[in-house]
Amino acid sequence: MKKRYLVTAALPYANGPLHIGHLAGAYLPADIYVRYLRLMGKDVVFVCGSDEHGAAITVRARKEGVTPREIVDKYHTMIRDTFQKIGIDFDIYHRTSEPLHHATSQDFFRKLLENGQFEEKESDQYYDETANQFLADRYIIGTCPVCSNPDAYGDQCEKCGSTLSPTQLINPRSTLSGSAPVMKPTTHWYLKLDEHENWLREWINTGRADGIQLHDPAEWKNHVVGQCNSWLDQGLQPRAMTRDLDWGVDVPHEIPHSAGKKLYVWLDAPIGYISATKQWALDRGVDWEPYWKSDDTALIHFIGKDNIVFHCLIFPAILKAHGDFILPVNVPANQFLNLEGNKLSTSRNWAVWVHEYVAELPGREDELRYNMIKNMPEQRDSEFTWKGFQESTNAELVGNLAGFVHRVLVLTHKNYTGVVPAIDISREFKSGWDADQVSTFDQELLRLHLKLEEMGREIEHFNFREALRILMEISSAGNALLQFNEPWKIAGDDPELVKVVLNLGLQYVAALSAALRPFLPFAADRIRGLLNLPALTDDRELLDTLNELAEGNPILQPNHALNAAEHLFTRVPDEVIAAQIQKLKSAEQANQQTAPAEPTEEKMTYAPVKESIEFDDFAQLDIRTGTILEASKIEKADKLLKLTVDLGFEQRTIVSGIAQHFLPEAIIGRQVIVLANLAPRTMRGIESQGMILMAEDAEGKLSFVSPEAGWPNGWGVK
Ligand code: MF3
Ligand code: ZN
Repeated sequence: MKKRYLVTAALPYANGPLHIGHLAGAYLPADIYVRYLRLMGKDVVFVCGSDEHGAAITVRARKEGVTPREIVDKYHTMIRDTFQKIGIDFDIYHRTSEPLHHATSQDFFRKLLENGQFEEKESDQYYDETANQFLADRYIIGTCPVCSNPDAYGDQCEKCGSTLSPTQLINPRSTLSGSAPVMKPTTHWYLKLDEHENWLREWINTGRADGIQLHDPAEWKNHVVGQCNSWLDQGLQPRAMTRDLDWGVDVPHEIPHSAGKKLYVWLDAPIGYISATKQWALDRGVDWEPYWKSDDTALIHFIGKDNIVFHCLIFPAILKAHGDFILPVNVPANQFLNLEGNKLSTSRNWAVWVHEYVAELPGREDELRYNMIKNMPEQRDSEFTWKGFQESTNAELVGNLAGFVHRVLVLTHKNYTGVVPAIDISREFKSGWDADQVSTFDQELLRLHLKLEEMGREIEHFNFREALRILMEISSAGNALLQFNEPWKIAGDDPELVKVVLNLGLQYVAALSAALRPFLPFAADRIRGLLNLPALTDDRELLDTLNELAEGNPILQPNHALNAAEHLFTRVPDEVIAAQIQKLKSAEQANQQTAPAEPTEEKMTYAPVKESIEFDDFAQLDIRTGTILEASKIEKADKLLKLTVDLGFEQRTIVSGIAQHFLPEAIIGRQVIVLANLAPRTMRGIESQGMILMAEDAEGKLSFVSPEAGWPNGWGVK
């Protein structure tokens, strides 16, 4: 057990509002985890802030015709307020434009330089002669070498998801002037990542560094380790840590050749976690260093999968290169959340914007949180739909949770003037966990204790969906307790039974008030109000609850007076859902009007349908769902990729002829359909244990065939 925790959530770029994908990816899981730790009495600091440098900001400023400063001020405020409204409770929300951050990242740079971690290298880079500027990757567009999208960026193609470098673009052009850029020499400082490859490989795969066991690799998510190994397998190259830009952190001025150079945003941004911690400590008059430099601190980074490589390879290399810092014990990255069948997209406005949600559905913050957690893309991509939101809110929050709390309170008011009844603890009744079982008050408190511990273990392992499911099970058991014992019927002829059932029901509600707090903080507060209990301060309240229950002690004492019953949640009416769906549709239509018309297709000639087969022939194929965990190029085979595919019950190595269509790093985490009983075949010395099914069009372009988002691995396709 570590002494203290430092939890970080990816610093969002201050270049646009937050959408639900951001919430489900990094911020909600981090918030749940941190609130839980606080409720368990742990020493934990939760840091975040705005990432205010890099091309993400300057591109946006150009688009809006304002300065980068105006952009970051506008979005920093907006993002900070949105987090607060949706209940993401950072200890500090800092910003990378603060002087403290500039100084901290410059010190880092100096130290890395002093430690011989950089190599200064001259290279040719694209330069816009009209704008008199070197061009950041994002400022260059051209044709994607992978999918032929004519508007791919110098760092990435948004159409096929490939990671690119500007020199790979066909017919590059500058977004500043539209002209073709020229190559011009410039010097930069390259971090010698190649020298870190070996220890990183060992650390990622065994949890050991310098012979010390730092974490258990089995605790890391498969897709995180898989993505790291795919990168490591391709070999780490020195990577430039500076840029020619006019917005960002200056390379320290005393260093020769520093004029006009800024730190690369991916060097300065994660250091933002450190400067945020420093500011937090300054504000509080405590020492920041133990949180970053002491072996008994658990450092945990919450991020989305697009940031895995930076947090699991590059930032750890930077921390190690510095020398004084600890490494993360886990990086529980999530996969992506989709919306109504499509990828979330800022540019296509296909999103649920969190600031709009809180304005349009005020008071329903927890409903959004609940649905995000329920559909959290913990192991694979998942999906949010407005219909699903409505259904689970109405059935689970209104029907199950609010229904239970309301019924217990109403019955207590009706029978005992709103006061917790004193009970005979030997009195037997039907358990809410099992209609056929007779139980007693203490036994049921112990059972509740076990359930809450089970929930806690799931949180500790970053299984937030499962943890929430267990909580809802407690609420269901509370409802069943009432259902099985029918206290409304027998009040007159068996008052002792009514007392014990209602008292126990109230203990369940009280325990839920603390246990729900990490997930649904607003509802937890409302329950505290209804029960007339002190407001939660996220300080040991769950630990105290668990300790009482473990002893068989009640949380609410006899004669404690409750407040009036109220409904915790209200149904989401159809109109609300219809309006939200309409809003998405309008966004889509607006896009179609502005987007360039697709070229009209030539007449297609389809391949003739093959000869008929019998059903039995088909039934011999064993087709399964799977997820790509790792992907790498195979030397001297330009068509083949080596994949590791998770089939749920086992992992397979599959050699697939898709290398000319997809870059390895772009397909990790993809769900696929696998022919699982194809006889193994060795290609280029690698045994391929199956085949990935792909769709192919008239031109031979390939598309993955996938089950619905979030489908489990290893199940049959018929
Ligand atoms: N702003 C970047 C993103 O949103 C990076 C955030 S993580 C950090 O993807 F470590 F760099 F802060
Ligand atoms: Zn592309």
